[in-house]
Amino acid sequence: MKVWMLVIVLAAITIAVPRAGQAADPIVIRFSHVVAEDTPKGKAAAFFKRRAEELTAGRVLVEVHPNSTLYKDRDELEALQLGAVQMLAPSLAKFGMLGLPEFEVFDLPYIFDDEVSLERVTNGPIGQQLLDSLGSRGIKGLAFWNNGFKSFSANTPILKPEDLSGKRMRIQSSRVLEEQMLALGAIPQMMAFSEVYDALRIGVVDGTENPHSNLYSQHMHEVQKHITLTEHGYLGYMVITNRKFWDGLPRAIRRQLEQALKEASEYANRIAREENERAIALVRAAGTTEIHQLDAAGRQAFRDALLPVHARMAPRIGADLIRRIYAETGFDPGGAIR
Ligand code: LMR
Repeated sequence: MKVWMLVIVLAAITIAVPRAGQAADPIVIRFSHVVAEDTPKGKAAAFFKRRAEELTAGRVLVEVHPNSTLYKDRDELEALQLGAVQMLAPSLAKFGMLGLPEFEVFDLPYIFDDEVSLERVTNGPIGQQLLDSLGSRGIKGLAFWNNGFKSFSANTPILKPEDLSGKRMRIQSSRVLEEQMLALGAIPQMMAFSEVYDALRIGVVDGTENPHSNLYSQHMHEVQKHITLTEHGYLGYMVITNRKFWDGLPRAIRRQLEQALKEASEYANRIAREENERAIALVRAAGTTEIHQLDAAGRQAFRDALLPVHARMAPRIGADLIRRIYAETGFDPGGAIR
């Protein structure tokens, strides 16, 4: 056999052998997120893994990397776009980093009264429009996962808006959240979630805001003496994937993954409230943190201080989108925006 022929045959063998092996290799989905496993998002990601592997009979393997062990907030979005991970569920507050400020509509204080009004938006045409809006970023939006409503925490009591004046408050990377803290006279500090516990412990920041499941699972209560159950804002997620990866999946596998995700989303949205109730009960039991409940006048004072954020952020988010959400949920803007 001539040398050049031998080269071709050897090349053909080396190409053919891995191909034969690849047919049996599972498709690996790396699912990275920044919270603990014992949170609504952590549990839903584990649920998705189990159902995806069951429904595809092992043809798909889902590796869940929780707690920023693989990537932190900003890095995980870049990693998804580059194809280094295949799935994420960032909070809606973090899509502004992709140049999509309309996602920050979810951060507007008091825009949702409860999960019912939230789901009218996420399950309706506005939710679909947001899911579809990521294509030009190489991303596909798959589903919304709920977490819940946020409370303020600090080392001093927060009983009225002025109590946050001059406090350095950690926020997610959202201009709306920045404006929210400014409206209270606080000093907003954007910071990756993985850094919050240490920043609170060392005193780089004085306080923060989070649903209770995030606060408890990151041990923030151990370094925060006061929590006020304000429920002043919402925190939820969009499950996203690398568009090229998703579109390249065999159709049958994609269907099975869609089914797994549908079930995981129902599960996530069902457990969020009880997980947050469980977390605040555990904070109470830990005895490290005083938990304050506001009376009607106290709640109104926070509302009055924070509602002007809607109008201030309308040029960034789009007044039309805000109005469409008001119409969907029946929210009464009062003096907010018209
Ligand atoms: C935060 O940064 O506070 C949250 O977005 C974390 C999360 O993913 O719930």
